[in-house]
Amino acid sequence: MLLFLVVLGFGFTGYLLPWDQKAYWATVVSTKVAGTAPFIGETITKILQGGEEIGAVTLTRFYALHTIWLPWLAFGLVGVHLFFVRYYGSSGLPQNRPEEMNAGKPFYPDQLFEDAVAIFLLFIILAAMALFVPVPLEELADPADASYNPRPEWYFLFLFQLLKYFEGPLEVIGAFVIPTLAILLLLFLPFLDKRERAPLRKRPIALTVTSLSVLLIVLLTILGGRSPKLEIASDEAAATEQTEQNESATQKEASEDTGVFDLDLE
Ligand code: HEM
Repeated sequence: MLLFLVVLGFGFTGYLLPWDQKAYWATVVSTKVAGTAPFIGETITKILQGGEEIGAVTLTRFYALHTIWLPWLAFGLVGVHLFFVRYYGSSGLPQNRPEEMNAGKPFYPDQLFEDAVAIFLLFIILAAMALFVPVPLEELADPADASYNPRPEWYFLFLFQLLKYFEGPLEVIGAFVIPTLAILLLLFLPFLDKRERAPLRKRPIALTVTSLSVLLIVLLTILGGRSPKLEIASDEAAATEQTEQNESATQKEASEDTGVFDLDLE
């Protein structure tokens, strides 16, 4: 679960890096969503943004998170994961008794070979996609463009769609309460459900909750893909339009200070 969160963190921080319209506006929305967290929301947004708004400092922070902090965190968590797999054994089929669980194939060379083949296949698919699926950059990020209609990448679409059903003071439910509860539930599931492992058909509650959740996520993703308009973003866009001149002045200053935008924004 922690590794999954780190991968989501990679997706979130990486998305800003191309610094085009899509990257900028999707991050405006996501940092605003992070800001809805009670008590600490504003602080989180400020820390992520490195100031009051998204600019040079945000890009530098996201770059550092994406290429230094998150890779080390992922590295460490993979290590812990491997340790647990070696120490406790893989979980195996539900009918396996504990002594059978540790009596599987040896890690070296069997498991290592299978992992290497899986990684290689994935690498081929990714390399082929990088070569043959065009993903052109959009216009350069323009904080003054109030008309831009941000649309997150597919893996975040369901979350953004969820936001649309909670407006005004209820926004916090869609943006913070539901995702946090879902994450906490998954994190603490092994401690909450300590019964003997059983085949899935003998676990009607788990089966129903999981199937409904998957269905809901797929449905929200489809709906989100069809109607990407995000009110939350247009509010932000309108606000940004008002501060348009300040914004570009700030960016100019930032680019002079840090040199981050020397290549692009000048
Ligand atoms: C699970 C691991 C990772 C995920 C899910 C991920 C995700 C992403 C995403 C979604 C983007 C935006 C791509 C775009 O829209 O053009 C991105 C960009 C980028 N990522 Fe990652 N990333 C991961 C690991 C890494 C690592 C380990 C590094 C380097 C240490 C890295 C370096 C970069 C760089 C430099 C960019 C900017 C590329 C550009 O602007 O064209 N990423 N990443």
